[in-house]
Amino acid sequence: ASLGVVIPAAGQGKRMGASGNKLFLMLADRPILAHSLKLFEDSSNVSEIVVVGSAEDLPKIKELVSKYQFTKVSHVTLGGKERQESVYAGVRALSPAIQRVAVHDGARPLLTLDQLNRFFTEAEKYRAAIMVVPVKDTIKRVDEEGQVLETPPRESLRAVQTPQVFERELLELAHRRCIDEGFLGTDDASLVEWLGEPVHVLEGSLENIKMTTPEDLWLAESILKKRSDRVRS
Ligand code: CTP
Ligand code: MG
Repeated sequence: ASLGVVIPAAGQGKRMGASGNKLFLMLADRPILAHSLKLFEDSSNVSEIVVVGSAEDLPKIKELVSKYQFTKVSHVTLGGKERQESVYAGVRALSPAIQRVAVHDGARPLLTLDQLNRFFTEAEKYRAAIMVVPVKDTIKRVDEEGQVLETPPRESLRAVQTPQVFERELLELAHRRCIDEGFLGTDDASLVEWLGEPVHVLEGSLENIKMTTPEDLWLAESILKKRSDRVRS
């Protein structure tokens, strides 16, 4: 498989409120980032992984990669101030032979190998495909004064996760255009959408949460415990 993976890990984890990057916090037996990387190391669909880190974290990430023997990691690359810049740096570091790219947040350690491989198989048909889940809450659009502008029908809304997978050429083109024209998206697919290219949604998992605030860690611990209890019983 010529599928490459970019793991953006260059954030500061401000909303987690820990000292330093949240991705080094322990979840069960290993750091959050080690869970996320293991998934792609173990997937036979994946041939290469690039991890993107901040200048401060690069040595720690390299140490983690060698400690857990993530042999598919070809580069640990310097990221940028925005997630979008970090991802673009990662994509450019992939070997020339790589033709499809999956992007997955270092902060999503709970995806399972089954879910990942199913996603890769279903995504093969599309130039761009992303994992989404239905939203549980009603979502409202509000203005800066705190006045409600509209309530889009919930059935039409999806919460967006990673992985997101793209033809490499399409993703690189989207990044170049968005840099030229100053567009900053909050996920990878929004750059491709901005080009006017179709993006396909595939069903994700409610357990594939992003470690963002402290309560996400408690929930993650419970999810992992439930999984290991199930294996033992
Ligand atoms: N990320 C990145 N480069 C950035 C910002 C974020 O590689 N400049 C990565 C994070 O490390 C994380 C993922 O993108 O794995 C999702 O971002 P987020 O959850 O927002 O993490 P942080 O930006 O670290 O957290 P916060 O926004 O609370 O500071
Ligand atoms: Mg962030």
